[in-house]
Amino acid sequence: MVVTHPITRSLVQRREHVIAILGCGKLGTAILRGLLDAEQNISVGDHRKLKIIACVRRAESATKLQSTLASYKDSVVVLTNDNMTAASQADVIVLGCKSGVLHEVLGEAGMRESLSGKLVISILAGATEGQIRMALSNGQSASSVNKEIEPQIICAIPNVASAVRQSMTVVSKVDRASLTPENFALASDILARLGWVVELDENHLNMGFILSAAGPAYIAVMLEALASAAVSSGVPREYALQMAARTMQGTAELILGGDSPAKVTENVCTPLGCSEKGLKVIQQGNLSGILVNALQEAERAIVKR
Ligand SMILES: NC(=O)c1ccc[n+]([C@@H]2O[C@H](COP(=O)([O-])OP(=O)(O)OC[C@H]3O[C@@H](n4cnc5c(N)ncnc54)[C@H](OP(=O)(O)O)[C@@H]3O)[C@@H](O)[C@H]2O)c1
Repeated sequence: MVVTHPITRSLVQRREHVIAILGCGKLGTAILRGLLDAEQNISVGDHRKLKIIACVRRAESATKLQSTLASYKDSVVVLTNDNMTAASQADVIVLGCKSGVLHEVLGEAGMRESLSGKLVISILAGATEGQIRMALSNGQSASSVNKEIEPQIICAIPNVASAVRQSMTVVSKVDRASLTPENFALASDILARLGWVVELDENHLNMGFILSAAGPAYIAVMLEALASAAVSSGVPREYALQMAARTMQGTAELILGGDSPAKVTENVCTPLGCSEKGLKVIQQGNLSGILVNALQEAERAIVKR
């Protein structure tokens, strides 16, 4: 299922929601910016319904975040080393820390109670719902944990384009099926504000995460290479970057509009023409094979975690 931009939709029931981001680093900040931008575009007058509490560990990160988000200061509170206050005050918790500190963040005394019955959206690449519950139970076996106070967890991996509400977010089909209808609606609404959402089966999740979440890095490398070629021929860098980015955007739009990649290539490359000569160089260098290897290597790394 792919959810499209819900620019005109409101958060469920339009009651106020407080979202805590426990670990508001690169991806957390992208999500935060996307949510705030969506809220500004949807809300009118005093109908602003979203408050965000962003948590970091170091004071310098808090200062940096505050200055990045200065224009949103009425909607965002930044806390340093105070996940508990954030979790207690929020009704939706985004887990945005690195997996290495998951136990530290969730194992804190009282955290399970603070998250009781709440919606938890984990953006940790490769972390399963089971691992998150284990961290939350602080070493207790699943059977000894009181199910009544368990939060509802969904693993969803947006990408950095959340900042501009163009994320391709991957969600676990299994996790979402375990949410109550209200929490499912709420999670869908929040994620759809960041861009598009696709639900995948468990066995496709890791590759899905790599394609959509690591993808911007690989695409940026290709974009940089295309632009660099133009720069080396004398095109000013700011134009070259714009041209490469717009060309990628246009190509993506054609494919999203129904053209196959092969069709786009065929439409550009006249036999024996200059574009085809360049394409041959790409094929000889096995760019496609390199990209396949890159994604498979990243998938192996995520599985090993
Ligand atoms: N970056 C991406 O494109 C991307 C894509 C997909 C998934 N992810 C996932 O997103 C998660 C975060 O990645 P990232 O790239 O955003 O990392 P990051 O920039 O290093 O952000 C991690 C954040 O966690 C904070 N933090 C560390 N310990 C904490 C604690 N005990 N309590 C509260 N906050 C704490 C850090 O604060 P300080 O700065 O103060 O240390 C920082 O703000 C990872 O699990 C990753 O798998 C990231």
